[in-house]
Amino acid sequence: MSYRIPFNRPGLAGDELHYIADAIAQGHSAGDGVYTAKCHAFLQGKLNAAKVLLTTSCTHAIEMAALLLDIQPGDEVIVPAFTFVSTVNAFVLRGARPVFCDIRPDTLNLDESLVEQAITARTRAIVPVHYGGVGCDMDAILAIAARHGVAVVEDNAHGLFARYKGRYLGTFGCLATQSFHETKNIICGEGGALVINDPVYVERAEIVREKGTNRARFYRGQVDKYTWVDIGSSYLPSDILAAFLYAQLERYEQIDAKRERIWRRYDEGLRDWARDNDVQRPHVPKYCRQSYHMYYILLPSVEDRQALIGLLRDRGILSVFHYLPLHLSEMGRQFGGRAGQCPVTESVSDRLLRLPFYNNLTESEQSEVVSMIRSYATQPVGVGV
Ligand SMILES: Cc1ncc(COP(=O)(O)O)c(C=O)c1O
Repeated sequence: MSYRIPFNRPGLAGDELHYIADAIAQGHSAGDGVYTAKCHAFLQGKLNAAKVLLTTSCTHAIEMAALLLDIQPGDEVIVPAFTFVSTVNAFVLRGARPVFCDIRPDTLNLDESLVEQAITARTRAIVPVHYGGVGCDMDAILAIAARHGVAVVEDNAHGLFARYKGRYLGTFGCLATQSFHETKNIICGEGGALVINDPVYVERAEIVREKGTNRARFYRGQVDKYTWVDIGSSYLPSDILAAFLYAQLERYEQIDAKRERIWRRYDEGLRDWARDNDVQRPHVPKYCRQSYHMYYILLPSVEDRQALIGLLRDRGILSVFHYLPLHLSEMGRQFGGRAGQCPVTESVSDRLLRLPFYNNLTESEQSEVVSMIRSYATQPVGVGV
């Protein structure tokens, strides 16, 4: 079914086709060409990271993080139950056991008050996800990690250039990951990045990303031939994708401004309706500067959520729910997941609805979405639909 107002419509910033043509003309369309170097320099400069490496996806960046941390069978990794499968699967691929932790009811981020009790002698890492690009409580999470000597890997798929207490998300963990998938703010179709904040991982990251070879050192003239030195895979994107990405990165401020306007229009347009209908709006703590990645609402019940999806669908508007609880998935149950284990995740997953959100969403499209939502009255609690 095609929708008049889709959930996402990937937008171009301006120079994508020009840079792609240039990347092809340069005669280097494989990875680590001119545009990859430009993206690396841009991101490293902005984030002040020891190193940033473009990857083929955020999923692959998390897989690299698991390899770099030398995660072994039987190790435990603390993850939110409310996240995308890649946050967890990357560690499971190395044989780790995910320990699912519930989320906070306000920001929907990993509940830091539950993390310490989930730590055991086998815990190797905590993986906070900055949901919607709103920062987790990094002070608390870093303090717990330091007390127990475990690594922090930030899954920052949603939060490029968002801040927690003035500092960019993705710069707190020893490693962090970004996504440039077409549903994100800054895109290149499929793509990601590994942000390396602890320099101890830099050299091995280059090797793991290049099939376990020391090719990067060879290109820098540090060795006279390159060879197989470690395990790894092919995690570097084509320079054609890096060219696409660079055009977006250059315009990130304009993209951010557009998204902020859209987010605020939803928030203002729905405020009184939400209050009158027992609907929860996104919560952004004062010390967070969010990335305006999405706008979601939390309906009082799954019945209201489904009814509203249907109402919008009948008008050609696509709204979508998000993240089925991972601990209750087929795989999650194999790791001991059971109903009631993460009650906030379970409740949120039933009630959350994400509204159409893309850089070029017009004011009239948005007004239509808002007025359709406002025409819906939620059922008083206790009344079935
Ligand atoms: C929290 C989170 N982590 C990781 C990913 C995976 O990103 P990618 O599609 O770039 O692999 C997603 C995808 O939406 C996500 O929401």
